[in-house]
Amino acid sequence: MEQVELPPWKNTSHNMGRSIYRLCGYMAMFPPNVPNHFIKKYSKKGDVVFDPFSGRGTTAIEACFEGRIGIGNDKNPLAYVLTKAQTSVPSYKRIIKRIQDLEKDFLSWNDTKKAEPWEIEMIFHPHTLSHLRFLKTSLNWKSSSVDNFIMAMLLGILHGRSEGYLSLPMPNTFSYSPNYIKGFVEKHNLIRPNRDAFELLRRKLQRCYDKPINKGKAYIGDARKTSKIKDSSVDLIITSPPYTRLITYAKFNWIRLWALGYDAKLLEKKLFTTSSQLKYYDFMKEVLRNCQRVLKKEAKLVLVIGDVQQKDKSKIVNLAEEVWMNCAQPLGFVKVEETIADPISDDRKVTKMWGKTRGNATKIDRILVMKQKSIQ
Ligand SMILES: C[S@@+](CC[C@H](N)C(=O)[O-])C[C@H]1O[C@@H](n2cnc3c(N)ncnc32)[C@H](O)[C@@H]1O
Repeated sequence: MEQVELPPWKNTSHNMGRSIYRLCGYMAMFPPNVPNHFIKKYSKKGDVVFDPFSGRGTTAIEACFEGRIGIGNDKNPLAYVLTKAQTSVPSYKRIIKRIQDLEKDFLSWNDTKKAEPWEIEMIFHPHTLSHLRFLKTSLNWKSSSVDNFIMAMLLGILHGRSEGYLSLPMPNTFSYSPNYIKGFVEKHNLIRPNRDAFELLRRKLQRCYDKPINKGKAYIGDARKTSKIKDSSVDLIITSPPYTRLITYAKFNWIRLWALGYDAKLLEKKLFTTSSQLKYYDFMKEVLRNCQRVLKKEAKLVLVIGDVQQKDKSKIVNLAEEVWMNCAQPLGFVKVEETIADPISDDRKVTKMWGKTRGNATKIDRILVMKQKSIQ
């Protein structure tokens, strides 16, 4: 096992003491103290900090809390909703009022569509499901920041193990496949709990409400293009691209995507994944070219990529170093500091979710800090 010196952020609180991170978890999310360290080191107040693969939005959220303008982009609509919610937090009063109004409207709501696919019906009690169906059709999350925040909270309480969640007891960060859940329900005789979505939303709001100093922005799009971000407009990029096929960001979020009105299988095809190293390098070259386009001269790019196990399990690949040699260096980036090794704590390892036998967790994240070579 490689011996590594612990990086400086390991001494700071994982969540930076912010309640907003209780909103909703996301697979392979950054521990907030990682982007926070680089935001403080490589940017100043008022700077624009961007993440082209934002996930739940950790980089953008930390940037907004630290007085920068945080911008997140992701191809997954779930990531968009979470990033937008936490970088454009509406007032507490407006959120609570909207929940009250929705609760009132529900009483006179005429539920015309009484059935949902069996996969959904097996997870939620019929009464809870009627709340969910009402909220799904009533929340205008695409156009209203209050509705988007409520939707993000709803996604956060959709499934989990305790009484604060709407589903059968199941993991919170990701969803098992429908057939796996079906087998589990039958084996353990699980009963769908009758929970009140409006009440649980109010309790969630109390637990997670927190507002950054600055407002940020969220976009849905491909990290290779991000056409809404102007040339030479960004002061710092901190990002982590998809790098292991173990994590399927749409399929493992199929219940949350149902609530947003998306088909996880169709969406999965649009997110980037490959088992070919060459295709991965082509993808990363395009991503890095776009980063060059949006970054200001001399601005830094912090890239986090974990070690991965080769398909035949014969060896562990230091993918970050491969991306450096095959993509970043040929494009004219220079390293600003030596690559940092960040051992992942046991509670964040991907394998943990499936038990010991399944898959191969990334044990070390590698952090490349680079900038474009200055032209003499
Ligand atoms: C490692 S995760 C990022 C997690 C993030 N750092 C956080 O703190 O939550 C990678 C992200 O890449 C997104 N993704 C996959 N293909 C993409 C593409 N072509 N363009 C933009 N985002 C993509 C996935 O939806 C996922 O959210």
